Amino acid sequence: MNKDLTYTSYLKVDDLLALQKPLSQPQAPDELLFIITHQSYELWFRLLITELDRVVGLIAQETLFPAFHLLERVSLVFKNLIQQLDVLETMTPVAFNQFRSQLNPASGFQSWQFRELELLLGGATQDYSRFAALEPEWFEKVMARGNKPNLRTAFISLLKNRGFLSNTDPAQEIKEAVLKIYQQPVQDELQTLCEFLIEVDEQVMLWRFRHVQMVERMIGMKHGTGGSLGVSYLETTLKKKFFPELWQARTQMGTY
Ligand code: HEM
Repeated sequence: MNKDLTYTSYLKVDDLLALQKPLSQPQAPDELLFIITHQSYELWFRLLITELDRVVGLIAQETLFPAFHLLERVSLVFKNLIQQLDVLETMTPVAFNQFRSQLNPASGFQSWQFRELELLLGGATQDYSRFAALEPEWFEKVMARGNKPNLRTAFISLLKNRGFLSNTDPAQEIKEAVLKIYQQPVQDELQTLCEFLIEVDEQVMLWRFRHVQMVERMIGMKHGTGGSLGVSYLETTLKKKFFPELWQARTQMGTY
């Protein structure tokens, strides 16, 4: 037992509360809400990255039951993140505009943990070059992540190990594997894994949709502080899927 340990010292509460530093002068009342929302997102992103790394390792070892538990955790964290936007929407556009110009040129677009998450889920590397000069260590972290195994590569390796894929691995073969997996009278562990994966995929899509809806409510069709077209740019991301074959296979699914 450490008798000097307190709630405050263990959780570093004083350090944590020193981290919210509004920029507006005089201080815009809603800037604290804006900062706390983003910072809590980054904390949850940290957990998501940690848990997804564990999931990738577990799938590689074909230890699927503990992976299911963690995938459920990941989906529930995303649901929780989606709900947090309700609180942010108690800020009106005019209250936001009191400090919005101070945020230029920073943007959620630069959240390297979000970019790592996209890659860890199996998303393709994007062109991050315009941030490389701004934050070189950001760029290195994201590029290093792009070279590591991810949820999608772990899933594909599992399908290969279980004899569903030859080595060519085109999307068509994955879709056919998914169809075979679902064509069994008893839901086995592979089918359960597919259901957990599509759930995570859906939650990320719902987060993207919920975010763009909130952005339009806050700034209409104005450009983003990160320099993008704002809502028009974000709308191009709404159809991104990490496991498109799981969705496509549904069109051909009948019964077993
Ligand atoms: C008033 C609230 C918010 C507004 C008006 C807003 C606006 C925007 C805009 C316009 C973009 C496009 C990039 C650009 O800036 O040009 C963007 C991207 C992004 N924002 Fe927000 N945002 C808000 C809150 C949040 C919150 C709370 C998060 C949580 C971390 C977040 C995370 C992101 C991420 C990850 C992207 C990149 C999306 C992508 O490229 O796929 N945003 N946001």
